[in-house]
Amino acid sequence: MTPLPSVTLIATGGTIAGAAASDTDTTTYTAGALPVATLLEAVPQLASIATLQVEQPFSIDSKDADERCWLTLRRRAAEALARQETDGLVILHGTDTLEETAYFLARTLDPCGKAVVLTGAMRPATALSADGPMNLLDAVSVAADPGACGKGVLVCFDRKLYDARSLRKRHTSALDAFDGGECGPCGHLAPLRFERCSEPARPLAAVPDDASGLPRVEVLYVAAGSRPDLLTCAIQAGARGLVLALPGNGSLPDVWHPAVRAATASGVPVVRASRCASGRVSPHPVDARTGTRPCGACSPAAARIDLMLELLAASGPSASGQTP
Ligand code: SIN
Repeated sequence: MTPLPSVTLIATGGTIAGAAASDTDTTTYTAGALPVATLLEAVPQLASIATLQVEQPFSIDSKDADERCWLTLRRRAAEALARQETDGLVILHGTDTLEETAYFLARTLDPCGKAVVLTGAMRPATALSADGPMNLLDAVSVAADPGACGKGVLVCFDRKLYDARSLRKRHTSALDAFDGGECGPCGHLAPLRFERCSEPARPLAAVPDDASGLPRVEVLYVAAGSRPDLLTCAIQAGARGLVLALPGNGSLPDVWHPAVRAATASGVPVVRASRCASGRVSPHPVDARTGTRPCGACSPAAARIDLMLELLAASGPSASGQTP
């Protein structure tokens, strides 16, 4: 008999491991409360799809995830992928910042030609009609499928597949909370089929072992009437780069121009992103006037990661530590 594929499952908490006092409570539960063993018990079908190697480096509500979590997860994922016997990797993660973790991994983790799939859930494991079990089963099925190899970091959610580089969380509570921005899904389940993926992958960025090595970059949300002293405060607090989530096509209000120009002239890069849920931010003459640059198709959260990695690379090989 052909042996089953070997899939490493790294659990990090989230709603998929959430527990509430009642089975109808889908809002005030505790994320990351249940051990991964409990989640696996709910999906006995996994036993016929893959042999699982399970790890749980931490179990948190992903609103509390930070750069340290990204780096720990990246290291554990890299170790798992480097093992010859590993065919694929699944990461269970809270949905609130899944977008950022997935993007960070897409920019820094070498999948070694193997499948890397993140998933989570919108309803806690204790809920009637919890969505976690199906998402888990689907993610493992994808990771065990040779067709997922070489597709970069994927996110499997609500029977759809997304490229981690274009993923956006677009809904606070719907079961299909994610979309692929301009690109849409890059695949579907039932039956599993891979369709198109977004832009070509960019070169992998090197990262340090230690989160203190990642430069601080903040995202500022610019509402009608927001004042530019926010930007000055962020720089004074230690931000080395800024992403502005701006109205429309990254439109910088006139009142912000002097502060932005001063920031960029002093060597603090400022990226124009958009508050809109999808679409590109295009180059504009304001960039020449103020020193800004557009983020393209990235969300503000993804643009922040890009800028962190860019500043890291600019600070030299000793700061960026490991090679990808
Ligand atoms: C979390 O992000 O950890 C909680 C919310 C969720 O997983 O949907």
